[in-house]
This record gives sequence, C-alpha cells and structure tokens, in this order.
Amino acid sequence: MHFQGSHILNIGQFERSDVDQLFAVADAMRPYAHRDKVTRVLDGAILGSMFFEASTRTRISFGSAFNLLGGQVRETTGFESTAIAKGESLYDTARVLSGYSDVIVMRHPAEGSVAEFAAGSRVPVINGGDGANEHPTQALLDLFTIRSELHSRKREIDDLRIAMVGDLRYGRTVHSLSRLLSLYKNVEIRLVSPTELRMPGDIVEALRSSGHKVIETEVLEEGIAGVDIVYSTRLQEERFASPADADLYRGRFRLNQSVYTANCEPNTVIMHPLPRDSREGARELDDDLNDNPNLAIFRQSDNGVLVRMALFAIILDVVDQVSAHASKVNWYTERRF
Ligand code: CP
Repeated sequence: MHFQGSHILNIGQFERSDVDQLFAVADAMRPYAHRDKVTRVLDGAILGSMFFEASTRTRISFGSAFNLLGGQVRETTGFESTAIAKGESLYDTARVLSGYSDVIVMRHPAEGSVAEFAAGSRVPVINGGDGANEHPTQALLDLFTIRSELHSRKREIDDLRIAMVGDLRYGRTVHSLSRLLSLYKNVEIRLVSPTELRMPGDIVEALRSSGHKVIETEVLEEGIAGVDIVYSTRLQEERFASPADADLYRGRFRLNQSVYTANCEPNTVIMHPLPRDSREGARELDDDLNDNPNLAIFRQSDNGVLVRMALFAIILDVVDQVSAHASKVNWYTERRF
C-alpha cells in the first residue's frame, strides 16, 4: 500500500486494492481494539486533533485509535480556543502544529479547508470532514461495515443494493461512500431525498459511468424495498441558512419498525453514520429499531476504531511491527464486542 506519509483528504485517492489492504490491516487490529492485547508500537508519537465542528465519534475514535497503538493525543476543539480566532491562517496554523505532531486529523466547516491546511503541513493530515464535501474515513468504516454485514449473509460488495436516505445534498458521508462504491461492480443505488436535497449531479454521473444502476426517488417505501442496506442520514441543519429552512424537510423520511417490516427484506441491514436526530419532529431512525438485530449502527461506530487504527499504522508505516510491541492486558476487560 502506498499511503506511508500521505495525507488522506478524499476518497478518490483509493483504489479497490488499497481498500482490500486497509481492511486486512483493520481486521488484524481487532485484538487491540477489543482489549485482548495491548500494543505500544506508536510509543512517543503524537496525534494533533483539531475539530472546528461538533463531533463525538470521529474525534474520540481517532484519539482512541491512536492511544490503542501506544501514541498520545493533543487536541483542540472550536475556533475560539485557537489563534485562528485572532486571524491566523490555516497555512500558518498547519506549519506550527506540524512541528508538534507526527500526524494530524482535522474537521472544519468549509469545503476544501482540510486540503488547504494540508498544503502547509509537514506531517500527514487526515480529513475528519470538510463541510458538505467529504468524510473519507467515515466512508471507509461504512464500507468495512457493509462488507462485514454482507459476509454474515454470504454476500459480497459487488452486486450490492443500497438505499441512501435523507439529506443527500449536504451529507458528506454519502458523498464519500458513493465515490467509494464506484470502485465495485454492478451496484444498485437508490437515492431517496427531497428534490432540493438530491445527491450532487457529478456524483450521480460518476456512479452511472461506473456502470451502476442509480434510481432517484422521493418515495421512501419505493427506495427501501428489496435492498440489502438502508443507509439513513440526518438532516444537516448546520448547512442551512436558518433552522426554519431546515424545518421544511425535518422528519420527511422516518424509518421505524413498522415501516421496516412493511417494506424491507427480513435481513435488510440498517446503517446510519450517526448522530441520528432523536428529537421529536426528526427521528429519521426511530428508537423502536434498537432491538432489531439488523440495526448495525453501533457495530458501525465500533468499526471506526479498527479502520482508523489501520490508517495510522499504514500512514506511519508500522503495520509489520504492531505485534512485536504487543503484551497482555493487565486489567479486567468485560467482553463488550
Ligand atoms: N459520523 C460522524 O462523523 O459522527 P461525529 O459527527 O460524531 O464525528
């Protein structure tokens, strides 16, 4: 794999063989992520973590992944706690922080901002989400989850039928996942959204150019019938001019147990990048699905640690050294995985 020392900025950097290798490394990280063993392979290394937009999963799982490999994390959240609030440029910030870190992960509300930051960095930079543009590591963990869920159903990613539901215009996770699926064969993608929140045309065109069948619809029941995966998304209200503008679409597509039972196959997998919006009036993925064994959302968020550990190991070129730095776990570990 050719990502040693590389920035990870968009999903277009990946070939199918890269994804296969990444997933093999992620599988090998399971004993460490599941606390069966400890490795100190990144002892002394520092991750700079800069999140200028709200995050639970991406920020914490990147930090946990680095800690699980033995490295340390220095993090900052929000513009107001950095010198960007005093007018410092992304370039200067990158020059400075890359003197303190071995690798940096960054989330920023503006499209293209992480690439701009990377241009000033002397160490690899990973895109943790740049506005409505891309969220490449989410797409990788999503596909890792899809592969895992399909394998337990004796299926492969080729010939997948997937419905993406919700705000496909501003949802960066579905942009990156769609681009990633372009690497596979004979995929059917149902795009379920309000007309105003459709998937960007260039992404739809790229999917069709890859030979995939793309169906766009505003009817949830039509979109989710007979698919292998329903990938629900939250209305990205932070990208709208005002909450009132977002209200026009809030609660438009709600998947709950009765809708699932009436329209989906008995083993259709339910995914969501999270957070789901559990407030009254939203609920695109209802809590009454929590006991449905096909609800994969928490297996999906767990997989984020495996995939991010694998990325760090590859970027910092320690894949072959992980087990040489391993030891037994000293503390009581309840089986959580
Ligand atoms: N999926 C995802 O990006 O979640 P966070 O916003 O919590 O990081």
